[in-house]
Amino acid sequence: MNILQTIATRRSHRAYKTEQISETELNQILTAALQSPSARNHQPWHFSVVQDPDLIQEVHDEAAKVLEKDGGRHFNDPDFQIFYHAPTVVFIFGEKDFSWTQVDCGIAVQTMALAAEGLGIGSVILGLPKAAFKGDKADELRKKLQCPEGYDFVIALSLGYSTDMKEPHDLREEKISRIE
Ligand SMILES: Cc1cc2nc3c(=O)[nH]c(=O)nc-3n(C[C@H](O)[C@H](O)[C@H](O)COP(=O)(O)O)c2cc1C
Repeated sequence: MNILQTIATRRSHRAYKTEQISETELNQILTAALQSPSARNHQPWHFSVVQDPDLIQEVHDEAAKVLEKDGGRHFNDPDFQIFYHAPTVVFIFGEKDFSWTQVDCGIAVQTMALAAEGLGIGSVILGLPKAAFKGDKADELRKKLQCPEGYDFVIALSLGYSTDMKEPHDLREEKISRIE
């Protein structure tokens, strides 16, 4: 796929096969992550790749608990998981004391999503797991996920062979102003 086709066909996928993505594919996606641009090339990120379903579920359980306690979301469906049971989840932790961390990690996650799309792998960018890093288990989870000192959760990406078909979005042309 060329880059414009890849951008056009990428969608968020929320249903996955249990089959794991290959090591080669994973390494290509992680290489793309490391090739992302960042302010002053500071690379204020750390990528923790998790393929342990029990740990993924543990992060979900904690996020669900915190979200419910905060009076926000309640997930009624016992099968629902914020990671959509994807076989691989990449947690992106960002350096807390750097002004461009959020932007840089955002660019990195989209770079990975596009790399995945180009390889025929589905993905979804996930902000909801952030809740898991606000509750009582935050330190424990950061440790289990090998989050470096001075870093915190920014965003996650589920990866896997998707089973839900998606059409491209309608374009909101009004989001562009042309000044000539
Ligand atoms: C910063 C960010 C956070 C997101 N968090 C979630 C999330 O927690 N759960 C989810 O299902 N989708 C999440 N999404 C996916 C968006 O819902 C999705 O990108 C949007 O609806 C557009 O659809 P598309 O990705 O298929 O084009 C997130 C996307 C972004 C960019």
